[in-house]
Amino acid sequence: MLPEVTCPDPTTLSRIAAELMHSAIARAVSSRGVARIALSGGSTPREAYRLLGALPFDRERTRWFWVDERSVPPDSARSNFALARDELLSPAGVPLHSVFRMEAEREPIAEAARSYAELLLREFALDEPAALELDEAGRSPLAFDLVVAGIGPDGHTASLFPGTGAALREDSLVVAVAPGSGLEPRLSLSRPVLVGAHRILILCTGREKRAAVARAQSQGSEEEVPARIYQRARPGAVTLLVDRDAAE
Ligand code: 6PG
Repeated sequence: MLPEVTCPDPTTLSRIAAELMHSAIARAVSSRGVARIALSGGSTPREAYRLLGALPFDRERTRWFWVDERSVPPDSARSNFALARDELLSPAGVPLHSVFRMEAEREPIAEAARSYAELLLREFALDEPAALELDEAGRSPLAFDLVVAGIGPDGHTASLFPGTGAALREDSLVVAVAPGSGLEPRLSLSRPVLVGAHRILILCTGREKRAAVARAQSQGSEEEVPARIYQRARPGAVTLLVDRDAAE
C-alpha cells in the first residue's frame, strides 16, 4: 500500500502539497546543492503550484522539468508547461535557464522524446546504458528529487495511459504516447524514471478519482492501471495526497 494522507478538502490538500514540495526542495538543496523537480499538468496541482511559488525556496538552486507534456504549443491553455510557468515559475521569479520544458509539439514526436532523454542524461551526468540499468524494483538511477504526479479516472499517471503499452516501457527515459480517445499525442517520463525519484507526491481530488485511487493501491497489471507503478518506489518516497471525496 502507498502511504495515503486524507485531507478534509482540496484547499487543505493544496496547502499540504505546497508544504511537502517545499520541504522536498529544501532537503535536496541542503544535501545535494540542487533540487531537480519534475512537474505534472492537469487541474489538481494548480493551487499547490501557486502556493509554492510564494514560498521562500532557493530560486538559483532549483531546476524544473516536466513529468509529461501534451503535443500543443507552449502558450496553449492545455500546455503543462504553461500551467507551471503561469502559476509557479514566473510569479516566483525562477530564472529561465533553470526551466526545461518538454517540446512535445515538435515532430516527429519520437525525436522530441529522444532530445528530452538526452537533456536528462546531460543534466544527471549519466550515459544511457547506466541510466537504464534498473534496480530490482525497476527503478532508474536517474533520480529526480521530486516528482509531482496525478492519477486520471482511467488509472493513467503522467502520460502512461492504460492499453498503450507505455507503462511497461523500460527501454527509454522518455516515451512518446498516443493516448487515443481524441487526446493529442504526449511525451512522458517513463516508468523507471518516475519510480526512481527520491520523493513522489501524488495529488488526487474529487469523487471521480475514488475508484482509480483504490485501483492504484491494489495489486495487478500496470498496463491496466498505470498508477500502480508507484508501488515500485523506494520505501518512504511516495505520499498519496487525497481529499475526502477521492479517499476510499
Ligand atoms: C496531464 C497530466 C496527467 C494528470 C492526470 C490528472 O497532462 O494531464 O500530467 O497525468 O496528472 O491526468 O489530471 P487532473 O489533475 O486534471 O485530474
